[in-house]
Amino acid sequence: MEKKGVLVIGSVNMDMVVKADHFPLPGETILGESFQMFPGGKGANQAVASAKLGSDTFFVGRFGSDVFKDKIFESMQADGVDLSGIFIDYANPTGIAMITVDHHGENQIVVISGSNMKLSLEDIEARIPLFRRVKVVLAQLEIPIGTVLRSAHLAKENGAMFILNPAPALTDKLPDELLKLTTYITPNEVELERLTSITIHSIEDIKKAGAKLLSYGVKNVIVTMGSKGAFYISDDKTLKVKAKPVDVIDTTGAGDAFNGALASALSENYKIEEAIEFANLAAAISVTRMGAQSSMPGFNEILELQRPHGT
Ligand code: RIB
Repeated sequence: MEKKGVLVIGSVNMDMVVKADHFPLPGETILGESFQMFPGGKGANQAVASAKLGSDTFFVGRFGSDVFKDKIFESMQADGVDLSGIFIDYANPTGIAMITVDHHGENQIVVISGSNMKLSLEDIEARIPLFRRVKVVLAQLEIPIGTVLRSAHLAKENGAMFILNPAPALTDKLPDELLKLTTYITPNEVELERLTSITIHSIEDIKKAGAKLLSYGVKNVIVTMGSKGAFYISDDKTLKVKAKPVDVIDTTGAGDAFNGALASALSENYKIEEAIEFANLAAAISVTRMGAQSSMPGFNEILELQRPHGT
């Protein structure tokens, strides 16, 4: 069977989002502008991004047995994600994220992991048939690190590429074993700084930090830089890909749009330059709308943004 599609191993959350003019200072109470709930979680967001772009996309994660599970399940299914590999946890609730979005569209997020941190090695073992099917496996760090490592091993054993989005930046050092199994790592500047202990002020710093990650055994580094675009570093190539300027409403899930779109593009055999450009466009569209999964674009929207004006 020809390998095809994307398998995302990761978290799923219900996002509780308030919009406010500014972030409250410690001890300050402010009056916000709106409150909404959106399906979120880095893993689930990335799966939705990939599925909405037309790739066969499977999600393995742990939901609680509660009303949030029902809402998110319905929404992800409608977005085209194959959820046959998920687990329901009867002892722990679905993860939630408390998110504040300010008038610049920037966010602050506190995650309560719930069932996400119970996604176990046994869960992953039980989904080996999915690893056999797909071309790309994608994981983040909102689930136990041992589960991420086992997923990376299974990707390799089954001939799939492994993309690690090292978000959130919870640790200064990832296991060497994990980095050696990683085909693409996709930190933002904060995560890059954390993982390499190199302070990032310039492109030269990014190149130095990227080279450090390569020296740990990662094959390719893609640094996401928001409105400044993305930077690619491998042993034989460095490349800067510009971002499209857009009006920002909410940056929540922009990194997830990038990673889901990157996985989708690589599963469709795009060249790396094209895959990064495609992922940048997906992220650009996502920040023009509220919410995480709700802001992920379809394929035609990317073509539309790519097209020079008036053509
Ligand atoms: O990357 C954005 C996501 O981070 C949100 O959807 C939230 O759930 C947290 O996981």
